Amino acid sequence: MKLAGRIAIITGGGSGIGHAACKLFAQEGATVIVADRNLAAAESVAKEIVAAGGKAEPFAVDVSKESDVKAMVEKTVAAHGRIDILVNNAGYGIAGTVVSTLEADWDALMAVNVKGVYLGCKHVIPVMAKQGGGAIVSTASAAANIGIHDRAAYVASKGAVAALTRAMAIDHVADGIRINAVAPGTIESPYFTKILSGPDGAELRRGLEDRQAMERLGQPVEIAQAMLWLASDDASFCTGSVMVVDGGWTARGDRKLQKKA
Ligand SMILES: NC(=O)c1ccc[n+]([C@@H]2O[C@H](COP(=O)([O-])OP(=O)(O)OC[C@H]3O[C@@H](n4cnc5c(N)ncnc54)[C@H](O)[C@@H]3O)[C@@H](O)[C@H]2O)c1
Repeated sequence: MKLAGRIAIITGGGSGIGHAACKLFAQEGATVIVADRNLAAAESVAKEIVAAGGKAEPFAVDVSKESDVKAMVEKTVAAHGRIDILVNNAGYGIAGTVVSTLEADWDALMAVNVKGVYLGCKHVIPVMAKQGGGAIVSTASAAANIGIHDRAAYVASKGAVAALTRAMAIDHVADGIRINAVAPGTIESPYFTKILSGPDGAELRRGLEDRQAMERLGQPVEIAQAMLWLASDDASFCTGSVMVVDGGWTARGDRKLQKKA
């Protein structure tokens, strides 16, 4: 087991990629704090893990609120004495160009996708530094590396997560803390299942599949596996990296030139 005895906080653990990461980390021996704004979802994931013989506890947190994040960290340390792994995964996307995006929607998205990562790290890093080390993994996106039509705020937020990952990795390397991110392509999580269940769902799905070189959507567990590697000792020489796991989407370049004959 790669994470035996480790204490891991996973935000956005109630659904999709976070849910898959909670299950995988628990299977690998970690005690998982399933942290989510949606307490019922966090409780359901924790229950599923415990029923399968793993260790998990739900925690209600809004990652954009410092008081919530502080309480999450303090309560975890009070209960378990340490925090070995933090996965900053809570986040969401909205449609819009810079012109059509409302200021309030921009601010709300940045507060979760970017400030949420800042707050999680701000409060967990001193704990990890005191105990002699730890591993942090944040969820960026393939959108950190390429422009996507009509997703200005989301693309900017994930670019910020990638940049912040590199900055923090350098600042805290001497504390023994490795700080990395994953950059997923389009993953079939409940977030996308909802979008794809609309009237134009089939056409939309074909478009999303077509843009990835593998011509399929990724599964949450395929991102969780990358998170596991980054959080485990297997990644002992890896810090400040943003690992692309996107079915070849961003490597692909011009689709028309590279499409099979
Ligand atoms: N699905 C994709 O294609 C894809 C691609 C690239 C990156 N991502 C990123 O992966 C992460 C997870 O996405 P997903 O597709 O699994 O989404 P999801 O909607 O299935 O799950 C997100 C979870 O985060 C929680 N959450 C949202 N805001 C929160 C907040 N303020 N505080 C605490 N919890 C909050 C939600 O309640 C939900 O349980 C996000 O950061 C997303 O941007 C997703």
